[in-house]
Amino acid sequence: MKRIAIVLGAVAALALSGPALAQGPIVIKFSHVVAPDTPKGKGSLKFKELAEKYTNGKVVVEVYPNSQLYKDNEELQALQLGAVQMLAPSLAKFGPLGVREFEVFDLPFILPSKEALRKVTDGPLGKKLMGLLEPKGIKGLAYWDNGFKDMSANKPLRMPDDFKGLKMRIQSSKVLEAQMRALGAIPQVMAFSEVYQALATGVVDGTENPPSNEYTQKMHEVQKYTMLSDHGYVGYAVIANKRFWDGLPADVRANLEKAMAEATKFSNDIAQSENDDALDAIKKSGKSQVIALTAEQKAAWRKALEPVYTEMTSRVGKDILAEFEKEVKSVTH
Ligand code: LMR
Repeated sequence: MKRIAIVLGAVAALALSGPALAQGPIVIKFSHVVAPDTPKGKGSLKFKELAEKYTNGKVVVEVYPNSQLYKDNEELQALQLGAVQMLAPSLAKFGPLGVREFEVFDLPFILPSKEALRKVTDGPLGKKLMGLLEPKGIKGLAYWDNGFKDMSANKPLRMPDDFKGLKMRIQSSKVLEAQMRALGAIPQVMAFSEVYQALATGVVDGTENPPSNEYTQKMHEVQKYTMLSDHGYVGYAVIANKRFWDGLPADVRANLEKAMAEATKFSNDIAQSENDDALDAIKKSGKSQVIALTAEQKAAWRKALEPVYTEMTSRVGKDILAEFEKEVKSVTH
């Protein structure tokens, strides 16, 4: 059923795009899966505000948060078919599209800092990765930040052994699957919009999120413990339908690029404070006990997760991994 809806949406979008120019504004449907009061939620609204301002109303941006229009496993197809014009999926969700190189961002503890992240995303590797989307009919526009992930569950997860046999929800990434298996857990890929319910009903035992996602989706209310592990990272690729983007009048595209650059700075500047505030709110709620891992416990996680690198090097690409690690080293040494 959903595929027909996507195709119909695409046909409608195409029919509208031609002569409507003469009649009305260019409409950009910007769909995403998180809540509005998150780094990505606020970033997309900032883009809307600036895009409409800089194009003097030649463009109207309709933002659809919380998977209102499409869920995780549908939104990329909807973009490729032109049913929506823009998305900002997690970097962990391009594997099913055949662009598995982005999963390098999912390797455990690969990013020691936001500085290292910027070195990668703002540098040649960041550009190269976005370029891999073009043959899929997708234009990469920017990297938006969320933050480092915590684990959550209904039992304390201090040592790798504590994960044994737990069903843990993950994004659609083979690297995250390998991560959970290396910890002895059972990975379950699931759309973001379904996670709260799955945790509340026990379909899964736990999951991993930056605090802004855990809090805004109320997952802390159904997870007795939140472990401050910083074991991985969630960030986004802001993307557009390539045919739509390349087909824009040059002046309009230039103004949208300006809006995107400013919305990117805005979203990345607020990401850390959004997550700090969310973690404070989780603590204040008293619903989920926040556990800070000791250095020994973190070292045990790192040791248990080392095999993921060997296992996943061929998947993300030996050269991609080497280039990523070189960029990271260049800011840590
Ligand atoms: C997730 O599925 O956990 C995240 O990618 C959701 C998001 O877009 O932050």
